[in-house]
Amino acid sequence: MHRSAKKKTTPKKQALHQLYEAAFDNIPVGVVVFSADGQSIMANKTVSDMSGTPHDVILSKNIKQVPAWKKAGLTDAALKAIESGKAVAFDTELTTLAGKIVYATGSFVPITINDKRLVMFIASDTSELRKAHGTAKFYRSALDQLAAVCFTDKAGIIIHINDVFCNLSGYTKKELLGQDQRILNSGYHSKSFSVDMWNTIASGVPWRGEICNRNKSGNLFWLDTSIIPQVDEKGNIEQYISVQFDISKKKNGEQQLIHSAKMTSLGEMAGGIAHEINNPLTIIRAYTEQIQMLLETNPVDPAKIQTLTQTIVKAVDRAAKIITGLRAFARDGSNDPFREVKVTNLINNTLDFCRSRFVHRGIQIKTEAIDPDLVVQCREEQLSQVILNLLFNAFDAIEGTPNAFVEITSALTLKDTIEISVKDSGNGIPTDIAKKIMQPFFTTKEIGKGTGLGLSVSMGIMESHHGKLMLDQECQNTRFILKLPSRQPKSILKPK
Ligand SMILES: Nc1ncnc2c1ncn2[C@@H]1O[C@H](COP(=O)(O)OP(=O)(O)O)[C@@H](O)[C@H]1O
Ligand SMILES: [Mg+2]
Repeated sequence: MHRSAKKKTTPKKQALHQLYEAAFDNIPVGVVVFSADGQSIMANKTVSDMSGTPHDVILSKNIKQVPAWKKAGLTDAALKAIESGKAVAFDTELTTLAGKIVYATGSFVPITINDKRLVMFIASDTSELRKAHGTAKFYRSALDQLAAVCFTDKAGIIIHINDVFCNLSGYTKKELLGQDQRILNSGYHSKSFSVDMWNTIASGVPWRGEICNRNKSGNLFWLDTSIIPQVDEKGNIEQYISVQFDISKKKNGEQQLIHSAKMTSLGEMAGGIAHEINNPLTIIRAYTEQIQMLLETNPVDPAKIQTLTQTIVKAVDRAAKIITGLRAFARDGSNDPFREVKVTNLINNTLDFCRSRFVHRGIQIKTEAIDPDLVVQCREEQLSQVILNLLFNAFDAIEGTPNAFVEITSALTLKDTIEISVKDSGNGIPTDIAKKIMQPFFTTKEIGKGTGLGLSVSMGIMESHHGKLMLDQECQNTRFILKLPSRQPKSILKPK
């Protein structure tokens, strides 16, 4: 403590004095006392530290005469406090006597001691706080330019959104504030997807994933989303902040990839399909010739002709069925609603595209273990594409090997999951290769034969079905398993 004069005191009073002095010097706020005419008469150590100015320099000044204090509005504030007898607050940037720039926040407080009117400058240095605030502001404006930002309360009610968010959703701020965030729900995701997400963030853990939303005009858009729960000191959730990036383009690109991979597999199928259709054509031709011959005999035997025409009709139906299936397969069904399909039909329709290819190379197709009653909710063409990819991969792996076979099974597991597996007579995939097979463009096949897209595209399709595609590492043969929920969310099913 630095004071201009000292009085004689008793030892007890002296001890008390020392205590006050220590407190005065060590409180974390800067204090300077000025007389009513503006002369500084007392300053604590904190104010010297804060301003980088020795106390005797502070004590040599009159508040009316320091230009920097005037500029910062401190002189006016001090005089106003003296005049009015009331505290006057300030919050200002100032250059100290030592040339240091500080942000000072505090008040001038008028006091009267022994009939002497004084004014006390009490201030804290808020430079660090301001800096942090400035940085936060900078981050915020950067984020606001890049991402859609949304704050919701604990219950998911929207309390703040930025412009990017409004632009993407097609709603105005006014329309969104106070609404439940489910206003953007597209119905695309399964119930368990939302439940998982809410469980995660409600437990205070950030969540990240890709969310499909619906904008005001009803169109779907995709967001790479991070949701960060903000918790208080006790760990209670205060609010949620979501930061989202538009990835609709990437998603649409993925769908195009699915389509082009399908076109590639169509190309692969061409030979097989020609054969599938050639078969019924041969039958039709041979039987028509027989009928012609029978018509020349006398008397004509209608029963014989009847049998032959029946077979011809069957052959025509079969050829027509393959062509219809092919048409359905080639179209882009990525936005179709989900439908209920019998697993047996799905697999048999898929096998129609490639059965003869397998049979001609001596590969046995086993389908006995397919549950005849099992129904799956799916986009049929897409799921068929996945199974066909697995069958082609199996074909490539075992063609020309002895006792080659593929076996397709299906089952409903205890966990309400439908499993469809495609096993071939190969001996599994070595671990170092198995690690990479799901990556796009990974192939062990020669150029022109493999694209490396089959499995990665299939995996994408399975994800859009809320399911999985995996290699069964436990099986001695090569076996892939498709897992699908037995029920898809209601909103994506085609209404009956
Ligand atoms: N049934 C299988 N048996 C052995 N290897 C397989 C089998 N299925 C996939 N693979 C491996 O996975 C790789 C990637 O498969 P995929 O994504 O369908 O691309 P592609 O068939 O064009 O190579 C294949 O090149 C092969 O090495
Ligand atoms: Mg393949």
